[in-house]
Amino acid sequence: MLDTPLTRQAGIEVPLICGAMYPCSNPELVAAVSDAGGLGIVQPVSLTYVHGHKFREGLRLIKRLTAKPVGMNALIEASSRRYHERMVEWVSVALEEGIRFFVTSLGNPRWVCERVHAAGGQVYHDVTERKWAQKGKDAGVDGLIAVNRRAGGHAGPKSAEVLYAELADLGLPLVCAGGIGDAPDFVAALGLGYAGVQMGTRFIATDECLASAVYKQAILDADEDDIVLSERITGVPVAVINTPYIQRMGLTAGPLARWMLRGHKTKHWMRMFYGLKSIWQLKRSSLDESGAKDYWQAGRSVSGITSIEPAGAIVRRFRDAALTAASAPAGSR
Ligand SMILES: Cc1cc2nc3c(=O)[nH]c(=O)nc-3n(C[C@H](O)[C@H](O)[C@H](O)COP(=O)(O)O)c2cc1C
Repeated sequence: MLDTPLTRQAGIEVPLICGAMYPCSNPELVAAVSDAGGLGIVQPVSLTYVHGHKFREGLRLIKRLTAKPVGMNALIEASSRRYHERMVEWVSVALEEGIRFFVTSLGNPRWVCERVHAAGGQVYHDVTERKWAQKGKDAGVDGLIAVNRRAGGHAGPKSAEVLYAELADLGLPLVCAGGIGDAPDFVAALGLGYAGVQMGTRFIATDECLASAVYKQAILDADEDDIVLSERITGVPVAVINTPYIQRMGLTAGPLARWMLRGHKTKHWMRMFYGLKSIWQLKRSSLDESGAKDYWQAGRSVSGITSIEPAGAIVRRFRDAALTAASAPAGSR
């Protein structure tokens, strides 16, 4: 169960990815997951803007904390030319610093594939449905991260089972993202045929994650019915904990924003506006210990998360559960 196309391509021992999280991916968390045999993913805006590292220095800090592979997230939405140029530079620096595994989200991953493949690396692409998966395959990606409807961040519309059935014949390794909170969920996803799992929310409630104690406690306290989708953060639905602050703000974008999001030209402006606003708001609320602005992203996996643990202990517990399941007699599984 632990030897999968993902572990082979990424050079890791446990098919478990700590997904990129703006603003929760800090170098210590990324390194801890990789060091335990999983794969931590660097989120460049989180590394630089939230956690205050120069990009290359942040990568070097991670390399001092672990000698094992780490990955990088390239959000390639092209609504701003400046952002795109910055992302091109970040990918180049990451390659120079030895990163060989990339997770792309949103736009067309072709340029990332070209650069990364030239350096002998791999690109996995986040998708929520077949249309985007086919686009990723046409662009040359090596694997797909199937983001289901239980995920934190930008959740998709489909269940893990439906998405697997929809994407399996594309012939690429599939990673399950969304709703995995504890080891039995991990084993079940591998049992479905997934080559690995990408988790976000579970890794926020860890010793190494620098998110505030109130945010972590809210994840422990929340049940899956407390997760709602808000359009007010980025203009597309994002999973958040339904706190009093979220209730006051409402979940839908206002009429002007909706109109602008529909227009071919105006949608890029609106997304950029939302992007900049949310980058600032999410940074503030994830680090603010007072909990006054309780604006916290989390997925439905909260229901399986009951304690704050070291990230490495989670990776090892999940690994052991998969090994136990794999060694159990077939009829008893
Ligand atoms: C707080 C938070 C921030 C996220 N930020 C990003 C991001 O910047 N880029 C990205 O590709 N995915 C992002 N995601 C999605 C995760 O990488 C991962 O796919 C998702 O969390 C899996 O669902 P889970 O939270 O149920 O484990 C984020 C998720 C969370 C919870």
